[in-house]
Amino acid sequence: MLLTDPTAAQRTVSFFGGKGGVGKTTLAASYALLLAGRGHRTLVVSTDPAHSLGDVLGASLDDEPVELDGGFWACEIDGEKVARRRVEQIGEEAQEAVPREVVPAVERHLDRAAASPGTVESALVDRLTDLLDDLPARWDRIVVDSAPTGHMLRLLSLPALLTPWIEGLVRQREQARGTERMLSGLLGRRNTGPDPLLRRLHDRRTRLERTRHRLLDESVVHLVLVPERLPLAETERAAQALTDAGITLGPVAVNRVSPPDAEGLLADRARQEAQVRADIHERFGDRGTVEIPLLRGEPTTRTGLTGIAEILANAGW
Ligand SMILES: Nc1ncnc2c1ncn2[C@@H]1O[C@H](COP(=O)(O)OP(=O)(O)O)[C@@H](O)[C@H]1O
Ligand SMILES: [Mg+2]
Repeated sequence: MLLTDPTAAQRTVSFFGGKGGVGKTTLAASYALLLAGRGHRTLVVSTDPAHSLGDVLGASLDDEPVELDGGFWACEIDGEKVARRRVEQIGEEAQEAVPREVVPAVERHLDRAAASPGTVESALVDRLTDLLDDLPARWDRIVVDSAPTGHMLRLLSLPALLTPWIEGLVRQREQARGTERMLSGLLGRRNTGPDPLLRRLHDRRTRLERTRHRLLDESVVHLVLVPERLPLAETERAAQALTDAGITLGPVAVNRVSPPDAEGLLADRARQEAQVRADIHERFGDRGTVEIPLLRGEPTTRTGLTGIAEILANAGW
């Protein structure tokens, strides 16, 4: 059973997911423009390491949002850069906290950690959390242009995966503190002050919990596909995985549909697509589907994007 939620359209965070090249960035940008045009302060953020949001919007973007039009903001999060910055910061703190002879070993460990995929993804979640925390003070709506499916699934499930891990660390640290206190008591020393490490772990746990709830209660994922068999198979698997993770699926977007009045090669394609489109409708019709035609040129201008935004609006988005 897939989750159907009639309030999906009112959710404040919309993710666009799907295979590489199906039109996630184009649709995320178009939808964000649509929302901004309706007067919602909207941020569109790309979490795909292969960023193209800036190219589509004709702007140079980094992880600090910039206002491109009144009430329309955009940014691209570079997970590796955020991870490097965070690891550098930990390194500086470690310099003060650990004995000097241990510092080179700590630095080697941090270098390795900075490059590991887990660190990059958790840094991405961290930065995304910062942006989500600015709802509703800074933005009314956030649109996320996600990385291809596998990445997006991991990103969405990371807060849930990390929470028990952090809780384990908190418990370990609390036990260690208990032992430290007992020992200092035995040695007749005064009790030590508040534990900065424990405080940071608690903060992190609270942040992750908040993000997890936002993903479950305030977010919706729109899967994007082109009318072909392989993208449909992947979309079905993604829909199931998202539903299993408790994430709400919104209407599905079928992009680059060949025109019905085509001739030659395109007419052959249109015939093949008809069967896949019928299957998509059967599978996802209950949550709504929207079809976007194959356009003559790449929709990389504002006119192109607002054209797509109109199609979304006519479909009730
Ligand atoms: N409906 C469409 N008609 C024609 N070209 C499209 C359409 N939608 C997207 N494109 C083009 O297809 C390419 C891939 O789209 P993009 O949004 O970057 O996909 P993704 O983000 O899923 O990788 C881009 O060059 C884009 O301009
Ligand atoms: Mg993209």
